[in-house]
Amino acid sequence: MHTAIALILFCTLALSKKNGMFIGLDNLPKQPFEYRMGSNEDNPNRAPVIFCGGLSGGALMFKKDNLQDTPTLCTKSSDDFYQGWINTGLLVPKITQPCLFHEIEPVFVNGSVQSKPGITVVPKDYGGHEGVTYIGTTALTGINIGGYAISLFNYLADKAGYKFGEDLRGANYDWRLGPKEYSRPNGDYHNFKNLIEETYNKNSNKRVHLIGHSLGGCYIQTFLTTYVSQEWKDKYVSSLISLAGSYLGAPMAAIEMATGTSFGIPMFDKDGVKRVMRKMGGAAWMLPTPNDEVMYITPKRNYTNSQLKEFFQDMKSPETFEIYQNEMEFGEKTKAPSVPVYCMYGVGSPTVTAAKMPEADAPTNIDVDEIIKQDGDETVPFYSLSACDAFANNQDQNKYPVVVDRFKGVTHRGIVSDAKILERVLNIVTSNK
Ligand SMILES: *[C@@H]1O[C@H](CO)[C@@H](O)[C@H](O)[C@H]1NC(C)=O
Ligand SMILES: *[C@@H]1O[C@H](CO)[C@@H](O)[C@H](O)[C@H]1NC(C)=O
Repeated sequence: MHTAIALILFCTLALSKKNGMFIGLDNLPKQPFEYRMGSNEDNPNRAPVIFCGGLSGGALMFKKDNLQDTPTLCTKSSDDFYQGWINTGLLVPKITQPCLFHEIEPVFVNGSVQSKPGITVVPKDYGGHEGVTYIGTTALTGINIGGYAISLFNYLADKAGYKFGEDLRGANYDWRLGPKEYSRPNGDYHNFKNLIEETYNKNSNKRVHLIGHSLGGCYIQTFLTTYVSQEWKDKYVSSLISLAGSYLGAPMAAIEMATGTSFGIPMFDKDGVKRVMRKMGGAAWMLPTPNDEVMYITPKRNYTNSQLKEFFQDMKSPETFEIYQNEMEFGEKTKAPSVPVYCMYGVGSPTVTAAKMPEADAPTNIDVDEIIKQDGDETVPFYSLSACDAFANNQDQNKYPVVVDRFKGVTHRGIVSDAKILERVLNIVTSNK
């Protein structure tokens, strides 16, 4: 059924737009967006907030200029930027999906994960909200789909009078890359630093709360530990609010790089996704920290979390291990950020620790046989989530306290919209600290 809908969208699109399969954002009708849910609360104690999403949790804009080796039916150039991640027009199996995979797949050149020559990828609506409140759009009508941080944004606007793009902002980033790329001159961290300074300046010099979900927590933590000085942090940052930060990675990342994933989109070609994931610095960054636990079981042999090199070799993707090493050289995911930290995460849910598959490079059309041995938030094991607590051992608790809140039964994805978490976040960001 989804395919049918997408096909209809696609056909109408192909007939009506000069770019063929793709349309530019400026062709989309502007979505009227009701962001305050009712009350006219205007809490004077509110401090500015910037949100960073997780892996694939940010809308990306693409622009093509003579992209090479494009699959049949895909255009090589676009007149303008269009929403590449994700837009329903790019989901038609065998027709537009191969274009999406070709466009979004990064390359690893000269020790750096980057976009292919001929395509520019930038985060959508940097500093606004559209890149993180919803991740997708419909191709034809430009309606937001794939709601992500929208509940959190609406809640803060409704309860305390936050204004989108002013004191409540999205710092969307290119989640296909990793910390090494973010730290380059004019990389994502350069923009992030400017955004924080600008937000502070525009909001009566009030220090900014940085909220990170999942990979977003690591994105912020590594920024704070490698990119800026203590003096800078003391001046601009009020706290890191870490929602399910996966500081020691997760076996799930390795399993998905082996077996593909559909990102919850039923019509996705998992083979295409798998190919792309194996090139992503962000996915490599989330690989489990080495330990002796078995994370992948095959009839021939098992792989522990310390055997990623053999794992990717047997998967016929040795480059993925190089990408992993390349990102890991950069920063240390357990280093204390030396700002006040609120660690929030779910516990009490059975969490995948290993998969049992016929071979390392498993076919994607079979169900993953999951082995569950640990507690966590379904996706990330407790040992990785609770690495956040350990920041307390390595930073001055009087100056930079670490506060831990565990939420029973709250899942990795659910944490960004759970009522208990929204309330807790509201209390922190309006506490006038
Ligand atoms: C890689 O490095 C070589 C040699 O320094 C250089 O000529 C080439 O342009 C680089 N390629 C990219 C994509 O940066
Ligand atoms: C792989 O792990 C499974 C489950 O822990 C175990 O039963 C099996 O004997 C192991 N296989 C090998 C070859 O070590």
